[in-house]
Amino acid sequence: MEHTRRNRIVDLLESKEYGSDVLVKGWVRSKRGNKNINFITINDGSIIHNIQIVAEVANFAEEVLKLITTGSCISVTGILTESMGQGQSVEIQARKIEVYGTADPETYPLQKKGHSLEFLREIAHLRPRTNTFGAVLRIRHAMAFAIHKYFNDHGFYYMHAPIITGSDAEGAGAMFRVTTLDEKNPPLLPDGHVDYSQDFFGKETKLTVSGQLEAELGAMALSLVYTFGPTFRAENSNTPRHLAEFWMIEPEMAFYDIHDNMDLAEDFLKYLMQYALDHCIDDLEFLNKMYDNELIGRLKQVIDDKFERLTYTEAVDILKASGQTWEFPVDWGTDLQAEHERYLVEKHFGKPVILTGYPKDIKAFYMKQNDDGRTVRAMDVLFPKIGEIIGGSQREENLEALMQRIHEMNIPERDVWWYLDTRKYGTAPHAGFGLGFERLILFVTGMSNIRDVIPFPRTPKNAEF
Ligand code: 4AD
Ligand code: MG
Repeated sequence: MEHTRRNRIVDLLESKEYGSDVLVKGWVRSKRGNKNINFITINDGSIIHNIQIVAEVANFAEEVLKLITTGSCISVTGILTESMGQGQSVEIQARKIEVYGTADPETYPLQKKGHSLEFLREIAHLRPRTNTFGAVLRIRHAMAFAIHKYFNDHGFYYMHAPIITGSDAEGAGAMFRVTTLDEKNPPLLPDGHVDYSQDFFGKETKLTVSGQLEAELGAMALSLVYTFGPTFRAENSNTPRHLAEFWMIEPEMAFYDIHDNMDLAEDFLKYLMQYALDHCIDDLEFLNKMYDNELIGRLKQVIDDKFERLTYTEAVDILKASGQTWEFPVDWGTDLQAEHERYLVEKHFGKPVILTGYPKDIKAFYMKQNDDGRTVRAMDVLFPKIGEIIGGSQREENLEALMQRIHEMNIPERDVWWYLDTRKYGTAPHAGFGLGFERLILFVTGMSNIRDVIPFPRTPKNAEF
């Protein structure tokens, strides 16, 4: 019986239905052979492994076989057979081959294996066809799915925060402007500034840096919510851990204090590590072999270790007593840099760390103040190789205390009147955090540059694809 539906390679490689008719479609990874027989391996992205097609030269037109080169796309009908060759259990004896698209060997950029990650960034439109990016993209998908599953199973509602925002209150980073005004001839106010009242939204608008403030509004009605969307920061930070466009997961929980918040963050991260081990082991084994032979061990370690919890003040004492020389000197009141975070995690404790009780002057206006008058109930979760993977806090639910911070930090009340209303009407203790999705994927894949864990990275001077 002729198959009309395509078989995915992932299913065929596990199949024992030798002798059955199958139909596979995919991109050629290699072709070798002699004048009697051709061995063609193809991949369809359903799994890291390829399937081997065996084509007897006598059964096919020479012109057709000639078109089958690395990178071309073909459709193959044939019989699934047990493979005698090494490294694979099944192969396909081809009966019919159709070439969908050729790939000129003279110009196809992925002709050879083993390109550098830097080179692959320059051909981001083709790199999903490599083993590495296939693995990364499948893991990225699995983690996104697991995040939704975790929250759904724990009674959270997925809430969509706006991407275009008129509020600049969060102060999490420099923002990109969104406008439809004529760039050459914008309407001006008498003082020379651009008149945004004539812009599309009747006010100045930007791309959001975070969905938190809106998530808080949701939590004050649905109790448990989370956002999962793109966020944008226009900082000129060209580091292996920063993107100008990244995805963030921001749960927000009514009736949670900072300790509940830490418990949730730890449980959530461990769940995601376990999900990756349970569902992505082929890809993890590949990445473990090719890039980072401690990767799988590190994922297991995070699941087993109880995260170390300490205050910022205690951490600063440890750093000052460490005898290390730092690029950025550390003293109470300074923000911790990646080098400090990684020292605590990798050298001092040897496991993930959650820091709390940060100086209020280096944190956002909405964080709940401690009784000492100088620290806030912030929490940063620090991971090996990554540094900060989560930032969060208990929120200031007291209207007066919040107003005081807003004034101290010169945040115009007219920008946050709607946010303040939640403290005016039915305020409640609550907390939340933000997980950087690409930092998570960095950790789970063992890749070392954040540009290699998102399909099309947006970084300073780079928005080609
Ligand atoms: O610590 P951040 O700035 O916290 C917030 O935005 C809060 N509103 C979160 C909340 O409480 N709901 O960012 C949260 C996380 C960081 O820990 C980091 O993992 C990631 O977002 N992140 C970035 N990831 C990639 N590129 C960047 N430029 C990032 N900036 C932050
Ligand atoms: Mg932070």
